[in-house]
Amino acid sequence: MSASFLQAPASFDPFALRSEFSVLRRKVNGFALTYLDSAASAQKPDCVIDGMAGQMRSSYANVHRGLHTMANETTETFEGARKTIARFLNAQNSDEIIFTSGTTEAINLVASGIGADLQEGDEIILSQMEHHSNIVPWHFLRTRKGVVLKWVDVLDNGQLDMQAYKDAFGPKTRFVAITHMSNVTGVVTDAAKLVSIAHAHDVPILLDGSQAAVHFPVDVQALDVDFYAMTGHKLYGPTGIGALYGKANRLDALRPYQGGGEMIESVSKDKIVYGLPPHRFEAGTPPIIEAIGLGIALDWLMALDRIAIAEHENLLAARTTEGLKRYNDVRIIGEAPNKGAIISFDVRGMHAHDLAQLMDRYGVAVRAGNHCAEPLMRRFGATSTCRASFAAYNTEDDVDRFLQAFAKARTFLS
Ligand code: ALA
Repeated sequence: MSASFLQAPASFDPFALRSEFSVLRRKVNGFALTYLDSAASAQKPDCVIDGMAGQMRSSYANVHRGLHTMANETTETFEGARKTIARFLNAQNSDEIIFTSGTTEAINLVASGIGADLQEGDEIILSQMEHHSNIVPWHFLRTRKGVVLKWVDVLDNGQLDMQAYKDAFGPKTRFVAITHMSNVTGVVTDAAKLVSIAHAHDVPILLDGSQAAVHFPVDVQALDVDFYAMTGHKLYGPTGIGALYGKANRLDALRPYQGGGEMIESVSKDKIVYGLPPHRFEAGTPPIIEAIGLGIALDWLMALDRIAIAEHENLLAARTTEGLKRYNDVRIIGEAPNKGAIISFDVRGMHAHDLAQLMDRYGVAVRAGNHCAEPLMRRFGATSTCRASFAAYNTEDDVDRFLQAFAKARTFLS
């Protein structure tokens, strides 16, 4: 963590913000809930929950199809959510935003679309830092088309090896797909550099923003990235909704992912004319209320001081790291300087699952496992770690309760 994170910002009151999350007032096993699993899924502010229910109570119909009042109202609100996502990512145009079920579908959509034009021996660059959602869709192309996956290693501090990245390009490189922030270590990649190097080789690049978009503002135009994937439920929104940003020219050239209603201009017995992006990639009835809920969540988030929130989260993570490091048997995985508020750690002689379950007895929710990132876990010789991840609603009380629960859990396991 950089030293600037050690100054608590005055412009952000986490206690006031916390009061907007009713769920955080509950108890777990008789203790105040300490929710440190937001990287898996964030809690939702009441405005998202109420907004989604309110939409269904006041105006609900299918979108894009109807001529009646509620169909038009719902379509307008749904398309408003698309505009909100465009603002959130600073896309030039909301037509560059495709609603997906989350990052997983966004990456599958791109892999399937570009995969159709790839040949045996063509190369795709991935990194050891990836979540399985940015690995498995590319393995499909490896097994189905003979595409070669080129892996960029990470350094001992968890940061991507930029020299290895540069060296991975060759005449057969066709695509790059790399995370913007590791879900295991919280390490943030140098996205602008990744993009400029890929473009210097005339290769398009996708960034997986599942974690990054939550913790700091993302500007897809400034990054000049070709595709950017994000997921709603980590962004204080509902499950089942996310988005893919694609540059207009990239989407124009991309083959459709799924076939069905609403993605075509015309269909006859022997011919299909596809609709334009984004609708070309949104077959069938979309998750209407979830998309509207995501719009509400992002409007809520954008009204806050996001830099102050990032500083607050990083301050909490720094205090937690400091507390864990008092123990000689604790190993923190990935401590590169450019890191967001996610801490993965293991403890010599203790199984991460046992630790997480014991901490739950004290109301502390952390994730334990391989975090769907087996190549990275293998890189660090771990089969599972405990992971504490922070959100805007966490406070210093959460850090204290986490460290107390950790100390107690250890006494059972040692
Ligand atoms: N991708 C989610 C995580 O990192 C589920 O926990």
